[in-house]
Amino acid sequence: MSTTQPSSRISGFHKLSPDERLQKTADFAGLDADAVTHLRNMGNLDPALADRLIENVVGTMNIPLGIATSLKIDAQDYLIPMATEESSVVAAVSNAARQCYDHQGFQTSMSGTFMIAQIQLVQSPNPHDSRLRILERKDEIRSLCNECDPILVQMGGGFHDLNVRVLQTEGGPMVITHIVVDTKDAMGANAVNTMAETLAPHIERWTGGKVYLRILSNLADQRLARARAVWTCEAIGGPAVRDGIVSAYQFADADPYRAATHNKGIMNGISAVVLATGNDTRAVEAGAHAYAARNGHYGSLTRWEVTPEGHLAGSIEVPMAVGLVGGATKLHPTARACLQILNVQSAQQLARVIAAVGLAQNFSALKALATTGIQKGHMSLHAQNIAMMAGALGDEIAVLADKLVALGKVRVDIALEELKRLRG
Ligand code: MEV
Repeated sequence: MSTTQPSSRISGFHKLSPDERLQKTADFAGLDADAVTHLRNMGNLDPALADRLIENVVGTMNIPLGIATSLKIDAQDYLIPMATEESSVVAAVSNAARQCYDHQGFQTSMSGTFMIAQIQLVQSPNPHDSRLRILERKDEIRSLCNECDPILVQMGGGFHDLNVRVLQTEGGPMVITHIVVDTKDAMGANAVNTMAETLAPHIERWTGGKVYLRILSNLADQRLARARAVWTCEAIGGPAVRDGIVSAYQFADADPYRAATHNKGIMNGISAVVLATGNDTRAVEAGAHAYAARNGHYGSLTRWEVTPEGHLAGSIEVPMAVGLVGGATKLHPTARACLQILNVQSAQQLARVIAAVGLAQNFSALKALATTGIQKGHMSLHAQNIAMMAGALGDEIAVLADKLVALGKVRVDIALEELKRLRG
């Protein structure tokens, strides 16, 4: 019997309602009724809003939202909303924060809220001459940029600086213009992209070259959030733990294989807050990793040192392009609620809090790795997931999870056997 493969070319799909699209998707994929009913439930996000946020919406993807506790940042106490599907992340931040709470918690700062947009000029007859022609127009460029966003200018932001480089590439020299814009409480992507697009024809006219790309850079190295904290040697379990953490950092900073995992752990914390507040996780992640490689060698985003008193001092410096206005931060009701929980008054404050969370996350990961290992802490939550996968319900979940941990076998096959036994 021959079966015809359904076509993925569905004309007018984007014009359908979410429910109609879901039906088409279900027909295509042969979804069962349970899956369709599940997807139809959009939880606490209004389907009409979801449908405006992205294209071709058929449902929403719910991620648990947890609250990290015990964070004292710049002498202020915070509860931190974190959206993540990964177990242990929220607990790790809370534990790290608790262990430095009595020693002033976290101190933070920020380099500014400057975003960079790039304009790529090619086929310039004289690249060095073009570079100077562009630099000479700085005042005109300032006006052109600021006219794009009078509200930003009213808020004290707008054009800040201009840099132009001649870049040697495989395709010949390119003249790369950077406009540096203070985007204040906005993440700023729209503002700087509009400015770059507005400038492009002028740059072509001034130089005789051709502009291709006009887009922000996610390497937001003029928007660096910084956090530091000191954990006393006693609070963390003694000098061996402290030295293990420092050595783990030294390993990461010397070895990209380890640094990737080390920084991934930091981003477990950072991305969870970025997501909870409706900010762009990919922008922050791209910026963080590019910054970690800024010296031509991919290293650690954090630093760990021993203080003269023998305590452990940790610090982080990371690009943090997050905003409080615009996009999902304002539109998504969960993001709005999370920002209320955080009670931050500016994008700078949010960025600084997020940097502290990244540092806390790294502390807990390195402490676990340098001592008992990561699996012990992971296992109890992981065991609960396995218990649920095996079909445990209600009180059975905790009982079965404890049993799996005690057996040292957190596996679905064992969970199925043990569940049968538990149910008699
Ligand atoms: C797991 O998601 C994160 C860690 O691997 C981070 C690290 O190794 O530093 C535990």
